[in-house]
Amino acid sequence: METNVRSDAYFFPQPRVYAGEEPAGSRPTLRGAVRAVRSAGTPRAPETSTLVVVRDFDGVGLHVVTGKGGTGKTTVAAALALALAAGGRRVLLTEVEGRQGLAQLFDVAPLPYEERRVALAREGGAVYALAIDPEEALLEYLELFYNLKRAGRTLKRFGAIDFITTIAPGTRDVLLTGKVKEAASRRVDGRKVYDAVVMDAPPTGRIARFLNVNSEVAGLARMGPIRSQAESVMRLLRSPATAVHLVTLLEEMPVQETMDGAAELARLRLPVGAVIVNRMREPLLEPAELIRAAQRTLDRTEIEKGLAYAGIPTGRQTVDALLAEAGDHAHRVALEEAERDELATLGRPTYELPLLTESMDLGGLYRLADLLRDQGAG
Ligand SMILES: Nc1ncnc2c1ncn2[C@@H]1O[C@H](COP(=O)(O)OP(=O)(O)OP(=O)(O)O)[C@@H](O)[C@H]1O
Ligand SMILES: [Mg+2]
Repeated sequence: METNVRSDAYFFPQPRVYAGEEPAGSRPTLRGAVRAVRSAGTPRAPETSTLVVVRDFDGVGLHVVTGKGGTGKTTVAAALALALAAGGRRVLLTEVEGRQGLAQLFDVAPLPYEERRVALAREGGAVYALAIDPEEALLEYLELFYNLKRAGRTLKRFGAIDFITTIAPGTRDVLLTGKVKEAASRRVDGRKVYDAVVMDAPPTGRIARFLNVNSEVAGLARMGPIRSQAESVMRLLRSPATAVHLVTLLEEMPVQETMDGAAELARLRLPVGAVIVNRMREPLLEPAELIRAAQRTLDRTEIEKGLAYAGIPTGRQTVDALLAEAGDHAHRVALEEAERDELATLGRPTYELPLLTESMDLGGLYRLADLLRDQGAG
């Protein structure tokens, strides 16, 4: 039985919030503009903007990064690892889905089942990477718990390990999470080998089950090393030393998955960390212009002047098309703001990362890592 039940408040500390009110008489804020666009009525008085500065991750040693497929889990996990390593720390970045996504991202040869340094962080830290392979993890287990190194190799030769993990898919997840736990708590000469471990985890739809698999195992195995191993993994995953971060885009489906994923994690008493909004696009218009764009009242002569200045022939149709495009843009900004409001109801620290236009190479990762640090991560 899991005994260390704690209250939600313990698992979900509130972020530090600094309210920065705009001075009276300042220009309309984006939030105000967006509210006006959404209600499609007369623009209201500008609302105050609130700058949320997220809490840092003091005390967290295991960062699990999940999110809807394709939202940027691997990219964000790598950037977070770089951010956490800055200043002379050692961080292990792990992947568990056998896709060699980290090797591709860091542009190195496919990773063997071995921790390899893949990048140096700012001010002296380093990021190591490990692609966890369930077969190898099982061999490690057999050796560690039953001293069965040779037998394990023979099992592998006969394909028995593949067989075991195929007939009991949960076994895979037990092995993968067990290995992550081992790395996160490994000590040499009494000192932790890694200051932090970051897991590029399965997507939101599968994350809660994936992380909870050990509590099912602990329920099945009555005693012995398997039960105590499963319990120790769950203890770490449910403790304040773990944070499950949710990567999302400001779009309906990823936000919905984020909300559902957070609820499911909370139900299983797994600690939800931060929300990381990825691939953000800045509005192209000023707040006051967004309001006019939504109302189709942007100044036609200004647009004509701009076109003429750019050497583009002006005509009624061109201006109409531009006005329609500006209107669509204003509505997109309003929808994004609605998604942001929805995410805010989670009450989690929120980080925002821009859509980078350059290709996602190491330079891009450093940029994202710096932006995470600027916002308080690491
Ligand atoms: N902030 C960003 N700016 C620009 N491109 C980005 C950004 N974040 C991620 N990408 C790109 O988006 C794509 C998907 O990112 P990534 O592979 O990290 O997502 P994922 O959630 O891990 O996907 P999967 O579910 O397939 O594992 C990649 O091509 C990546 O380079
Ligand atoms: Mg990925």
